[in-house]
Amino acid sequence: MIITSAEFIKSAVNPSHYPPARLPEIVFAGRSNVGKSSLINILVNRKRLAKTSSTPGRTQLINFFEINAALVFVDIPGFGYARVPDAIRRSWAPMIETYLVTRPTLKGLVLIMDSRRSPGPEESTLVDWLNRHQIATVLALTKIDKLPRSRQLACARSAAAVLHVPQGDIILFSAKTRQGREELWHRIERLIAPVHNNSNDI
Ligand code: GTP
Ligand code: MG
Repeated sequence: MIITSAEFIKSAVNPSHYPPARLPEIVFAGRSNVGKSSLINILVNRKRLAKTSSTPGRTQLINFFEINAALVFVDIPGFGYARVPDAIRRSWAPMIETYLVTRPTLKGLVLIMDSRRSPGPEESTLVDWLNRHQIATVLALTKIDKLPRSRQLACARSAAAVLHVPQGDIILFSAKTRQGREELWHRIERLIAPVHNNSNDI
């Protein structure tokens, strides 16, 4: 994917603040501090489009970015950060759930997980929930640069086993080395492609 433009559109908490639903949308989800905003920046070749931080809880709103005037990336706050005040933690689920179930242009979710830890109950529950709601999901294990090559495939295998998905569904990614960027773009392109009509093939 050649990136010609990548722009912040707006931040939102509830549907009345979302930008108009005109373009296919991909949302990036995962535990707090896992590297969601960094992964978005790598995909679009921008250093600081989505704000990143070494302190968990940096992203607190639903942030919309328009890419190539053709699609929208959505950066959302991470889940599972214990030090976020209770009131904020409780408001996270409704804010994200409302977005996921009401957004007509949502084409899929990229679930980002830390390659150094096994997926936990939050990730398993989310994958089941996404399946039930028929939201297409792409799985990425990030910070893979922190693991020796010899352990990378084993970690994809064990994450696949925990989440009950084929190992080939898991993309190994690094915002540091850019490993996995092309593969992730291919999956995203497939999600946003118009539905193929087989009857035209003959
Ligand atoms: P919240 O918005 O707080 O939920 O965090 P986030 O998931 O958006 O994470 P963010 O992109 O802000 O990155 C968190 C920290 O991890 C930063 O210090 C990044 O530099 C670092 N980081 C992100 N991705 C990678 C990666 O692939 N490799 C390495 N080595 N560090 C990474
Ligand atoms: Mg973030």
